[in-house]
Amino acid sequence: MKRYTVSAHEFYDGLKTGKPKLSQEIFVDSYLKCQKPMDILIKRYGLFNKCIISIGGSYGHEEYWLYKIGNNMLSFVDIDEDNVIESYLAGLETPVSKDENLVYYIGDARNVNEYKEDFEVIYFSGFTPNEIRTADILARNDHKWPNNELPFHQITIDVTGQLLAPGGLLILQSYCGGITYNQNPHCIGLIEKQLASVGIILLDLYYWKESPGISLLIGYKGTRQDADRYFSSREVEISDFHGRGRTPQKSRPTIIKYYDYSQGIINKPLSIHKSVKDLVAKLFNHS
Ligand SMILES: C[S@@+](CC[C@H](N)C(=O)[O-])C[C@H]1O[C@@H](n2cnc3c(N)ncnc32)[C@H](O)[C@@H]1O
Repeated sequence: MKRYTVSAHEFYDGLKTGKPKLSQEIFVDSYLKCQKPMDILIKRYGLFNKCIISIGGSYGHEEYWLYKIGNNMLSFVDIDEDNVIESYLAGLETPVSKDENLVYYIGDARNVNEYKEDFEVIYFSGFTPNEIRTADILARNDHKWPNNELPFHQITIDVTGQLLAPGGLLILQSYCGGITYNQNPHCIGLIEKQLASVGIILLDLYYWKESPGISLLIGYKGTRQDADRYFSSREVEISDFHGRGRTPQKSRPTIIKYYDYSQGIINKPLSIHKSVKDLVAKLFNHS
């Protein structure tokens, strides 16, 4: 795995001006669309002055705002599947000040020992191995998630388990054929179990009403007591995410908060059904 330490400022300046091939399409057309959703994410989870690693981060069009608004130190790991990022990195200057460092590892995220250090946040967005596995399992099972399948690719869990420091956050955004939680509420139990295997507690889970397969999951590494403290001091709510995406009507989505740490599953189709049944029973009893 090759490590590049470059200036974050120079890295992003080049991307904004479309220097490397493909960056016009992948970065310039996207990063401004992500400003508002990333600002909300940063504020809700207090993502300021932290060490953050993005797995499969590509050009970092969302991560740009973690750097710009949150003043976070960024690291990336990516296989550079289009063979563009590495040659771009090789032409950049070494930063003059450590505060400007952006570290980029070119290689497979599976080789975690080669870039292992403690991070306060681990960020996945559209991580291919995870997305492909999910889409494949759903396609083979008529969009129902089987009870005997783990929700996340083992690489996602292994990498998270090894890199995330206590008190750290897992941020996992899925936008390519992800699990439709509204149709698969049993997945929450599976997620809780899989995350617990690496000491992580599920905090929040959101999806787009218009495309329920687009989701944002947040996990906390630590004890219940610390998670209580962290969760109870969250003030801003997530009202948008995955800024680059558009609904079928080409608008911003309606965000459904499906699960949170204090309430569990919020939007339970079965309990709504039950409450309607309870109401009908009550009406009959009173008539
Ligand atoms: C769909 S893109 C997502 C890029 C960016 N995170 C986003 O949300 O737009 C998936 C990225 O994962 C990278 N990738 C795929 N498999 C990987 C692996 N095993 N290790 C590291 N990166 C990988 C690809 O090179 C690509 O940049």
